[in-house]
Amino acid sequence: MSRTPQGQRASLDKQPHEVAAMFDGVAARYDLTNTVLSFGQDRFWRRATRAALDLRPGDRVLDVGAGTGVSTEELAHSGAYAVGADLSLGMLYAGKRTRPQVPLLAGDALRLPFADASFDAVTISFALRNVNDTDAALAELARVTRPGGRLVVCEFSTPVNPAFRTVYLSYLMRSLPAVARTVSSNPDAYVYLAESIRAWPDQPALAARVAAAGWGRVAWRNLTGGVVALHRAVRT
Ligand SMILES: C[S@@+](CC[C@H](N)C(=O)[O-])C[C@H]1O[C@@H](n2cnc3c(N)ncnc32)[C@H](O)[C@@H]1O
Repeated sequence: MSRTPQGQRASLDKQPHEVAAMFDGVAARYDLTNTVLSFGQDRFWRRATRAALDLRPGDRVLDVGAGTGVSTEELAHSGAYAVGADLSLGMLYAGKRTRPQVPLLAGDALRLPFADASFDAVTISFALRNVNDTDAALAELARVTRPGGRLVVCEFSTPVNPAFRTVYLSYLMRSLPAVARTVSSNPDAYVYLAESIRAWPDQPALAARVAAAGWGRVAWRNLTGGVVALHRAVRT
């Protein structure tokens, strides 16, 4: 579904202009809302993403769907040169205000503004789900990564314990939109968030798609019982 020209809530088939407009609408309070809705777990997920990328000082790492640069900033703690790219100018402007030291630029995950094999590592946190062609985005990430370079996808996934999964899905579909109404500048966007998480492939299904897009040695690690999964792979 879609609403106003500002795209307050994107449809699950994710037209890029709707997605960008929706994130423009949440940009002002994005970082705060994330931390509240994830009970502070987002910081742990970001640190785990940095560790999984195995970055060394001087490495060049690209963070796609970087938004406000909150995920990019964490990567720079490794000593690597981290640059973020995003489709939403609203998110990028919010990032420029709050993190002026983080290099952020406008770019579409499906047509990244970089030459082949430009990066030692690439990553995408909580954004692959929003791109309207998952497989093309994974292939585009491979294009800009040097042979032997690393990929880490940090994304919401499927909790492994069935009882926990039931509780989590109920939080996602009922409580999360209610909490978002009190903290977010665009609560409707969080209804899309809940629906898009529920519709997303589980861990083995996403691993198969990563492999099909030209990545080798695909593996994953569950965080917070599988609420989030880190898929990692190596450019063949
Ligand atoms: C949930 S935010 C994640 C931001 C950040 N990576 C984080 O970890 O908090 C998803 C971001 O993906 C961006 N995005 C969606 N589709 C995109 C595309 N095709 N190319 C680049 N960025 C995209 C959105 O604009 C949004 O800023």
